[in-house]
Amino acid sequence: MKSTVELTKTVKAKPSRNGLNYFVKTFGCQMNEHDSERIAGLFEYDGMQKASSVDEADVLFVNTCTIRENADDKLYGTLGQLKKWKGERPKRKLLVGGCAAQKDKELVRQRAPWVDVVIGTHNLTNIVNLLNQTEDWGPITEVIEEIQSLPTDAPSIRESEVSAWLTIQIGCNNSCTFCIVPSVRGPEISRRPSDIVNEAKAMVASGVKEITLLGQNVNSYGRDLKINGSSKPYFTELLTELNEVEDLKRIRFTSPHPKDFKEHTLQAVNELSKVSKQIHMPLQSGSNKILRNMQRGYTQEKYMEKLYLAKETIADVSLTTDIIVGFPGETDKDFEETLKVIREGKFDAVYMFKFSPRPGTKANYMKDDFVEKAIIDSRFMELKHLQTEISHQRYKRFIGTQQDLLIEKYSKKTDEFLSGKIDGGQTTHISSETVQIGDYIKVKITDATPFALTAVPV
Ligand code: 5AD
Ligand code: SF4
Repeated sequence: MKSTVELTKTVKAKPSRNGLNYFVKTFGCQMNEHDSERIAGLFEYDGMQKASSVDEADVLFVNTCTIRENADDKLYGTLGQLKKWKGERPKRKLLVGGCAAQKDKELVRQRAPWVDVVIGTHNLTNIVNLLNQTEDWGPITEVIEEIQSLPTDAPSIRESEVSAWLTIQIGCNNSCTFCIVPSVRGPEISRRPSDIVNEAKAMVASGVKEITLLGQNVNSYGRDLKINGSSKPYFTELLTELNEVEDLKRIRFTSPHPKDFKEHTLQAVNELSKVSKQIHMPLQSGSNKILRNMQRGYTQEKYMEKLYLAKETIADVSLTTDIIVGFPGETDKDFEETLKVIREGKFDAVYMFKFSPRPGTKANYMKDDFVEKAIIDSRFMELKHLQTEISHQRYKRFIGTQQDLLIEKYSKKTDEFLSGKIDGGQTTHISSETVQIGDYIKVKITDATPFALTAVPV
């Protein structure tokens, strides 16, 4: 791999691709969505324009995910379909990046030799250079193991004009036995607070009203920085500093790790006016045996302590969580413990996943204990029914109340409605007749489903 990296440095930049159209197709998490915005920014800097669809594009970047097995399956299906797309215009370029590219560079090449560039997650900023190289040398793979660059304020083109992601940390130092992230994204590295605050200010200057801080484990942010040798609560400090950014309306963050959640962070969330009263606390399982085998670093009891502390510290906090159903060795009794936490926790929303064995993770070697697919499916449905009922109850508590709504985009189904989020993160629809994208307004909630609210301006 080293040779291709060196090669990159010796290649002269070609004239930009003025007039060509690009499209970025994104799978997976917010981190990927944000990387895609940076890719779009680099392409536009190179003279390209955003195409309205894959069919219109000359250059297509597929940003891949590998967190669960079906993400891999989807990727190879998509790449299969794109062979025809590439054949339709010989000058088209197909680029593949993201976590699957980082993990399976050889496999991507083997299964889709028509791909022009395979690029890893650590060297995305080199994408235009690599695109230039393919003109001279043909298909190229550049996936480096070491982290070459942290996110910078390189140009980025956002999907939403008013709400933006801001990466504060990359990688993860934990070793949850089901998770492939540490092996594809590397160890935890924090960005300097001054870089983050400057980027937030630049975003606000370009019209952004809400930022979401991104990291795999945001509440351990900064412990690798050792600023002045101090052991300050960096994440809380960072929130406090960002709260001062003029004209910024709202700050969210995702995801914290329950084991690293500190009381002072919860207090800061409660006290800082711009920080949303919303906490995502990924539980994964309610069973202590399963939590131990997952290497999560907490028990059900410890988790509940933090959950109640969050509820006591932050008035009307909106809580969400992640659950993995069917981790190896999960019995009916273990699953019952998960249901118990879900019943007691009263989350606004639960993101549910069926366990998916990932290559290289410890859980992948627990094959003797894998749970039967039919059992996983039925547990998943049981959890889904239970939570849909709870979410509906939780969402109904807003009916008749006044909330601050930031309007982000047209609703997916119809132009007659715009949608955005209230402070707690609940998606809220409002008629597009009297309001517009970017408005940050007081609304009254008139209706609730388990998944969204409806509002009118007050
Ligand atoms: N199988 C199922 N779900 C997983 N997640 C991460 N790895 C796996 C896996 N191998 C889920 C976890 C995590 C969320 C982002 O994805 O719940 O919090
Ligand atoms: Fe994966 Fe665990 Fe790190 Fe989250 S904390 S990214 S689940 S290893």
